[in-house]
Amino acid sequence: MPWLEIHPATLANEHALATLENAAWPLELRETPRMGIDEPFFGPRREPQDVLVAVEEPDGVILGHIDLHQLWPPPQRPHVVRLLGLLVSPAAREQGIGAKLLAAGIEEARLRHARKVEVRALDTNRTAVDLYLRSGFTEEARFHHEFEVTEGQFVDDVWFSLWLDPR
Ligand SMILES: CC(C)(COP(=O)(O)OP(=O)(O)OC[C@H]1O[C@@H](n2cnc3c(N)ncnc32)[C@H](O)[C@@H]1OP(=O)(O)O)[C@@H](O)C(=O)NCCC(=O)NCCS
Repeated sequence: MPWLEIHPATLANEHALATLENAAWPLELRETPRMGIDEPFFGPRREPQDVLVAVEEPDGVILGHIDLHQLWPPPQRPHVVRLLGLLVSPAAREQGIGAKLLAAGIEEARLRHARKVEVRALDTNRTAVDLYLRSGFTEEARFHHEFEVTEGQFVDDVWFSLWLDPR
């Protein structure tokens, strides 16, 4: 019986993550060009320890990921962590993996002493928006018609936040 594990990525996951990123993003939900499978997934702004992967074991297949990003180095805003790039492989969607990755990202942010967690989504991305609202995030800012994702279709960019109680 396969099981799911969520943990930080390693450099060895680079190609699998780039392949997933290339194949699994619907273009109408992206505001940046599709990533090439040979492009480096990791870099100075996305290091393996800041990427949580959802892995189906015992086969070790990566089904999704979420990335933690600290926008400003301490001391400016060390209490704010932004979660980026939440993605689940199309065949593995609607089984709760997105919610588990989001919960793991929030928990990791808490362990890093975040008080505030931020996410953002295009307004047309109802699955993501519903997931964020269901998980306790509230809308903090809306940038009207920020992106023209397909010709003539302008969509709002919505930013959400969740304040964490200190334990
Ligand atoms: C957004 C995304 C990450 C959600 O991943 P997911 O694994 O499908 O998320 P979940 O399964 O936790 O929840 C999604 C839906 O499945 C439903 N669901 C969860 N478990 C379920 C189950 N066992 N049976 C049936 N439905 C289920 C949830 O209720 C939810 O429904 P809703 O969208 O109507 O509210 C995924 O759709 C994705 O990768 N999209 C493309 C990239 C993207 O948009 N990322 C977000 C950027 S802001």
